[in-house]
Amino acid sequence: MSPTDKSLDAPLFASLLKSDNEALRLETVRTLQGAKSEIAGPLLRAVADAASVGNADKQTLAASATLRAEALVGLAAVAKSEPVGGPTRKLLRTFLNNNSLVPLRLEALRAARSLIADDPELRDGLLDIAKTIVRLEDGAIGTELSNQIALAFAEAKLDPPQSIKLTTSAKPKDRQEWMAQLNRGRDVDPAAGRRVFFNPNGAGCFKCHIVDGRGGRVGPDLSRAVGTMNRIQLIQSILEPSREIAPQFVSWTFELHSGKVLTGMLVHENEGKTIVGDAEGKLTEIKTIDIAARVPQKTSVMPDKLAERMTLQELRDVIAFLETQR
Ligand code: HEC
Repeated sequence: MSPTDKSLDAPLFASLLKSDNEALRLETVRTLQGAKSEIAGPLLRAVADAASVGNADKQTLAASATLRAEALVGLAAVAKSEPVGGPTRKLLRTFLNNNSLVPLRLEALRAARSLIADDPELRDGLLDIAKTIVRLEDGAIGTELSNQIALAFAEAKLDPPQSIKLTTSAKPKDRQEWMAQLNRGRDVDPAAGRRVFFNPNGAGCFKCHIVDGRGGRVGPDLSRAVGTMNRIQLIQSILEPSREIAPQFVSWTFELHSGKVLTGMLVHENEGKTIVGDAEGKLTEIKTIDIAARVPQKTSVMPDKLAERMTLQELRDVIAFLETQR
């Protein structure tokens, strides 16, 4: 069922979120990631908000951390639709500056990534984190926080704060370095990888790929595709999408009789209609009869430099998540 289906209204979502069944609550939060902001916003803010957790035992807290982190993925999209000072942006800010759990802090950073260019409060939130990183005991977390901040400032076309210079790690330069870095036995977190995959900020894998029945139809369904690939093939197809392209996923340029030109993948062609999927994951329907010429392209619809839109740890986690699809 589509998350924007009319029968899925706020009261129904709210009652599902109150269920005793942890798996059902998690699925509801994931469905809300694709729902309209007016519906998803208030419900996801309530799930993410620390005050709603109370004094729970350890196991409940761990489950609730996953649920809250997934809620923040949905709130990343909601925050984009809000003006500066909106309730979701304010909530994100609280996750940045307190001692919130590391996964939640990272998730809020990811959600803020596309907003700091025009939102001074969130930008201050990142600057506050930057100041404290040198005092962190765990170097790996310090590096990831620094890399997240560096990425957010780079996407906003702003200079990164000086204080993270020493803790930011350099991106690998070539394929060999990438492989070496990705295969270093660092901790990976497939659950975090799932949140990177479905995040509207960053590489946006879900805009083109389905996993577990959710996502776009421009690229192959990765729940199926990953099973046929080894780890090296999997990494390569993310770092260099155009190296090997299966025939059904070749990108085309379609010239229409009207003179218009479209580039993208042939997602579906039937009964006189052609559906083209582009590099933003957007689908366009045209009449097959309107196509004057089609020319195959050598480059994939999947963008080349996706790894530049992720931290090294995010890419590690995404790969770990995809490997759970075997
Ligand atoms: C704009 C659409 C788009 C985005 C965004 C995108 N992909 Fe792709 N992806 C494709 C297309 C189209 C193909 C098939 C053509 C090819 O192999 O390059 C593909 C191929 C792949 C393959 C190889 C599958 C196979 O059967 O060979 C993997 C793995 C993959 N993508 C993972 C990812 C991951 C991980 C992300 C996010 C970091 C991502 N993709 C983002 C469109 C996209």
